[in-house]
Amino acid sequence: MQTVTLIPGDGIGPEITEAVTSILKEAGAQVEWDIQTAGADVAEIEGSPLPDRVIESIKKNKIALKAPVTTPIGKGFRSVNVALRKSLDLYANLRPCKNIEGIKTHFDNVDVVIVRENTEDLYAGIERQIDEDTAESIKIITRKASTRIVDFAFDYAKKNNRKLVTAVSKANICKLSDGLFLECAREVAKKYPQIEYKEILVDNLCMQLVQKPEQFDILVLPNLYGDIVSDLCAGLIGGLGIAQGANIGLEAAVFEPVHGSAPDIKGQNKANPTALLLSAIEMLKYINQQEIAIKIENALYKTIKDGSILTPDLGGNSTTNEYTKAIIRNL
Ligand code: NAI
Repeated sequence: MQTVTLIPGDGIGPEITEAVTSILKEAGAQVEWDIQTAGADVAEIEGSPLPDRVIESIKKNKIALKAPVTTPIGKGFRSVNVALRKSLDLYANLRPCKNIEGIKTHFDNVDVVIVRENTEDLYAGIERQIDEDTAESIKIITRKASTRIVDFAFDYAKKNNRKLVTAVSKANICKLSDGLFLECAREVAKKYPQIEYKEILVDNLCMQLVQKPEQFDILVLPNLYGDIVSDLCAGLIGGLGIAQGANIGLEAAVFEPVHGSAPDIKGQNKANPTALLLSAIEMLKYINQQEIAIKIENALYKTIKDGSILTPDLGGNSTTNEYTKAIIRNL
């Protein structure tokens, strides 16, 4: 039995967490949940949206499954998600994006893995109001973080038999910061002569992705571009409801979907739990529960391929509960 920290989050978080934990239970996953709440409601009671107990729990268990947590826009506390990634040094955000049979999209050949730097760039949170009409945000790019994220991307490529790593930047404009990122990428690429290395500017990447996504394999990006391009790639395969992710560091790993707390559909029993479920499946593989992971994966893919019970974001008209039950029946 493996103890895993579980952060149910807020917005649609608790609904999709309930769905996913019930599927894992029915599948026989050997997991004991250490439930840790975080977010705005917690801040009101405990004074912080990310109390130390959450970090301590992940440090102890070394593994967590996390649903989304709302971040106030333009004001309020700093993102719980960014704080969590920073405090545990979860430097690599891994977001595989692959077509799922049965989900109709413009393409049927998307198989891109996004490797997003997770600790710096504009997410360092260094901002100030210079005067009433001027604000400043500082973009931090370091040799250490750039080198290790590119190394992570190449290492992932090697272990997963991938052929191409493309480094993404805006080094024509941010000559020093993105220039440093590219300099590090070129250095790391020399260590992996068996894997092809290319570079692309982020604006061109976006255009190419929506026209010919099959030309990309692994993308390695600084934090902000990685965040934006992840949602674009999620759109290519059918939307945020199915886009999984993981935050990986040397001491811990936190598995979480790409999407946010979707306040627009909160409490309506129509959120798609697939992205969190796929993240949980990857978590099970990570903790060596392959057999159960594959059993759940098969049940999930069968449910989607059948196509009769799907949530509204995938073109269906079933509820979260009905979809969850269908997956359980297919186990
Ligand atoms: P969002 O990802 O929550 O929603 C964008 C759109 O996708 C909405 O129309 C939503 O209904 C839909 N959507 C997202 N997940 C879905 C699902 N599982 N099933 C069906 N439809 C789904 O992005 P938004 O609205 O920009 O952000 C809302 C909040 O989430 C913000 O406070 C943001 O900071 C936070 N956020 C948290 C993240 C995390 O916890 N890792 C990641 C991204 C955003």
